[in-house]
Amino acid sequence: MKIPKHVGFIMDGNGRWAKLRGKPRTFGHQKGADAIYNVVNGCYKRDIKAVSLYAFSTENWSRPKEEVDKIFDLLAKFLKKYTKTLIKHEARLNISGDKSQLPERLVKEIDKVIEKTNHFTQKTLNIALNYGSRTEIVRAVNNIIKEGVSDISEEEFSKYLYTANLPDVDLIVRTSGESRLSNFLLYQSAYAELYFTDVLWPDFSEEELDKALVWYDGRDRRYGNIK
Ligand code: IPE
Ligand code: IPE
Ligand code: MG
Repeated sequence: MKIPKHVGFIMDGNGRWAKLRGKPRTFGHQKGADAIYNVVNGCYKRDIKAVSLYAFSTENWSRPKEEVDKIFDLLAKFLKKYTKTLIKHEARLNISGDKSQLPERLVKEIDKVIEKTNHFTQKTLNIALNYGSRTEIVRAVNNIIKEGVSDISEEEFSKYLYTANLPDVDLIVRTSGESRLSNFLLYQSAYAELYFTDVLWPDFSEEELDKALVWYDGRDRRYGNIK
């Protein structure tokens, strides 16, 4: 079976999952955070080297403050709890997004985990947090201008993105029945296979991961060539 090197997850449907159960949206986020453990472990066990999680988009600031705060709180807890497992898998943490707007408690947790894992080179957990692809690309362009570079290759350009050193995304998984990318890894996913499932993120399990991987295995990646 061909295994993708880099899988991106658009973890969508937490709110609807909670609503179906008559619970507040934050309850859905809590269950969604629980689902991350099994999915990321499942990826590493299946020898997927890079996992990207869309945790909070630049557009998600428009949500009520309590919900935003709860998401950040859950992420800090997730990182704290997951550090040991990251070390066990020899995976480094990478954050895609502008950390400067995040609460201090979360940034502290992030920095701690990065410090403990940044010597690992084989596996990566990339969390897209306060992330949007367009902002990322424009930021890259501005940094290139600042450095006075006048001509750049695609390969060099990708080093200015938050995902520098990561391979291109092979597979994007989006849960909850939406079929859009919502500003997630647009440059990195230029040739990714896109898998959409109706399963809501809190219900996304290792079994669901396997379904996505079997589907991916069946894709014929032509990259513009003919068969
Ligand atoms: C995804 O679930 C989590 C984040 C965007 C942080 P949603 O909160 O978007 O859940 P729905 O789409 O409203 O069901
Ligand atoms: C995408 O989900 C962002 C994350 C999963 C963090 P949204 O729920 O914010 O996306 P839209 O608004 O439905 O496109
Ligand atoms: Mg959503």
